[in-house]
Amino acid sequence: MKAIVLAGGNGSRLYPLTQVSSKQLQAVFDKPMIYYPITVLLAAGIQEICLISTPQDLPRFRQLLGNGARWGVSFDYREQPHPGGIAQAFLIAEDFIGKDRVVLMLGDNIFSGSDDFPRALSQLQEGAAIFAYHVSDPERYGVVEFDQNGLALTLEEKPARPRSGFAVPGIYIYDNQVVEIARALRPSPRGELEITDVNLEYLRRNQLRVHRLSRGFAWLDAGTSTALQEASAYVEAIERRQGIKIGCPEEAALVRGFIGIEQFEALLQNMPDCEYRTYLKNVAAESRRLGGVK
Ligand code: DAU
Repeated sequence: MKAIVLAGGNGSRLYPLTQVSSKQLQAVFDKPMIYYPITVLLAAGIQEICLISTPQDLPRFRQLLGNGARWGVSFDYREQPHPGGIAQAFLIAEDFIGKDRVVLMLGDNIFSGSDDFPRALSQLQEGAAIFAYHVSDPERYGVVEFDQNGLALTLEEKPARPRSGFAVPGIYIYDNQVVEIARALRPSPRGELEITDVNLEYLRRNQLRVHRLSRGFAWLDAGTSTALQEASAYVEAIERRQGIKIGCPEEAALVRGFIGIEQFEALLQNMPDCEYRTYLKNVAAESRRLGGVK
């Protein structure tokens, strides 16, 4: 299973912040936003990741994430010259996907919670899987209606009158049909290749599964200044209370066994003395104490 992280767009809703730095590089409390979706992917066991962004922002992502070797993964980078829609990602990354299955993740979606993603990933052999999360304002999102067996019944993009309270978060799992489906898409009235049209095609083929995210799960999107502020406050509250970080790729890489404890400790040598490093030092000490030494 491979993954694409889509981190482009013009970030107009975060102007003037986005004049000098992309939305997905803005801080969500104590880390760049992009750390959160990347950590979700690592925690789900995915090691091959393609990041798509604008030609002007891509060098910054490379600088931040590198080739991934230090976390035991590989990062590929591709440009999206113009924001032609979320589903354009499959055309841009077609050679990266090859014959594999693929997860698509939006770079401004922040998740915190249980094992729902790894479970859904391991279950998908054929077709597509999306997630459903109950929200108070479904009309702002893709909205899905589903039956008790988790089969999608209807799916609509930002409907004026939503048929359910379940929004579709920005993480999607597909088999290899997705490339062929994306190739056949036509731009929507707003001129974009819509991810909802990809999912509708899977629905038409009776191959769209819906996983309802559990109640304890948090999904935040950080697309506006208010949402960004709320996401930061949420992360801060959880981290302070629990003493555990959300969105820490080094920790996910260690827990998944992508890197051993020596490599993990070597990463700390190159970090300045800061709160993040202190946290990772504690993670290393705990890992050694519990015998998770590799
Ligand atoms: O956040 C979940 C929602 O994301 C879903 O419920 C909707 O079904 C889906 O269409 C999408 O809605 P948004 O209105 O949030 O999409 P937006 O155009 O804001 O794009 C989401 C992210 O993807 C954003 O961070 C920028 C990036 N993006 C978007 C487009 C259209 C790109 O990198 N390239 C693009 O061409």
